[in-house]
Amino acid sequence: MDKATLTYKDRTVDFQIIEGSEGEKAIDINSLRQATNLITLDVGFQNTGSCTSAITYIDGDKGILRYRGIPIEELAEKASFSEVAYLLIYGNLPTREQQNLFSQRLTQNSMMHEEMLRFFDGFPPTAHPMAMLVTMVNALSVYYTDYYVQDFQSENFDIMAASLLSRIRTIAAYSYKHSIGQPHVYPKRDLKYASNFLYMMFDSPINPYIPDPDIERALSVLLILHADHEQNCSTSTVRLVGSSMVNLYASICAGICALWGPLHGGANQKVIEMLEEIKNDNLSIKQCIESAKDKNSKFRLFGFGHRIYKNYDPRSLILKNYCQTIFKKFNYDDTLINIAMELEEAALKDDFFIERKLYPNVDFYSGILYRMIGIPTNMFTVMFAIGRLPGMIAQWKEMHDSVPLKIGRPRQIYTGSALRHYIPPDER
Ligand code: SDX
Repeated sequence: MDKATLTYKDRTVDFQIIEGSEGEKAIDINSLRQATNLITLDVGFQNTGSCTSAITYIDGDKGILRYRGIPIEELAEKASFSEVAYLLIYGNLPTREQQNLFSQRLTQNSMMHEEMLRFFDGFPPTAHPMAMLVTMVNALSVYYTDYYVQDFQSENFDIMAASLLSRIRTIAAYSYKHSIGQPHVYPKRDLKYASNFLYMMFDSPINPYIPDPDIERALSVLLILHADHEQNCSTSTVRLVGSSMVNLYASICAGICALWGPLHGGANQKVIEMLEEIKNDNLSIKQCIESAKDKNSKFRLFGFGHRIYKNYDPRSLILKNYCQTIFKKFNYDDTLINIAMELEEAALKDDFFIERKLYPNVDFYSGILYRMIGIPTNMFTVMFAIGRLPGMIAQWKEMHDSVPLKIGRPRQIYTGSALRHYIPPDER
């Protein structure tokens, strides 16, 4: 047995080293507290694995990302988003028959209970789409209670997963229509995943919208690139909340809330706001780089840096190339991409960024492509959530399929007051 030995005071204890299928190694400390009365402390879990998983593999030093062993580059080029969703949740690309059944379920469950539309009346038009998304996803648990499944191998789970994947799209589009005061557009049964979303977003009684195949593909690529990313903040939240045995809808809601943060999925909106600030305030690239390095400056280079990638985020590379190709095709000019590329070039030459291995991440170019598609900036994180949903469902299912399911309950090191007693108000 490959082992690590811990010696503390008069005790020496061996711990098993476990090795993953790609050679990653970990010290299995499941018996640490019992054997040593010690716990570990790892703020931000920078050195701590929460689980074993067979879904996504990332090599941050080499800039590798694979879903169920398939390189992200191949999936972005060749797969549909629904194929990738199936791959993540069930472990393999679907056969033709499996794909047909999955697509059928996505179509059959693309509408929500008509009474749910009344929830939108309670939102002001200025409501952030992420707030509406979280509320409405949780509200699904009110109307679809028969899917509080405990058997995660059942057809009920399959239908619940497909219906959530389908309805999140409808909820997102309806929240957009609500924000612009237009009537919502019902999904069509003859449109595929991405084109149905675009149709619900941009069609209207006076302006019929016919999804352009290239725009539809661009959206599918964006969704595929966001589909899973192992134990990131939001997916770890889904696992932790799900470990209490609460239903899938509530677990996913918790994950979407975590994704909303500007350090995480909210960064794509912050990147565009940053690029627009640079353009509108006519800031020089040099000024931005210096501000980004200045701890006292509130300016942060959003879309840069990553906990795992200490090389180029492969998703960012795909998006950068994709933007350039499709912008040329549509003769689309967006000064923001020029600013972004100049920022990237300057940062990658700067010692501060080089020493800290800070590279563009998935959020750096994704917003520029969403803009071209016509998605409003405040919906970028909603798009991230739609893309990430298959991964969240897959990770939630994998956790429930692992036996025994352990409720997540980290420990702490207490640093507060020693024992003291209550004193009446007049004596304080
Ligand atoms: C996503 O985990 C995932 O997989 C996430 C994600 C996914 O698919 O789920 O990939 C999606 O969330 C991408 C990240 C989006 N967030 C941003 O773009 C926000 C800007 N980036 C940073 O806030 C930061 O890089 C994080 C949050 C992404 C990572 O934070 P870490 O790993 O905790 O790193 P850190 O904050 O400790 O930074 C290390 C050093 C620090 O400098 P020193 O204290 O060592 O001097 O690098 C600096 C930081 O100040 N730094 C930056 C920076 N990011 C890190 N300095 C300037 N600009 C930045 N963007």
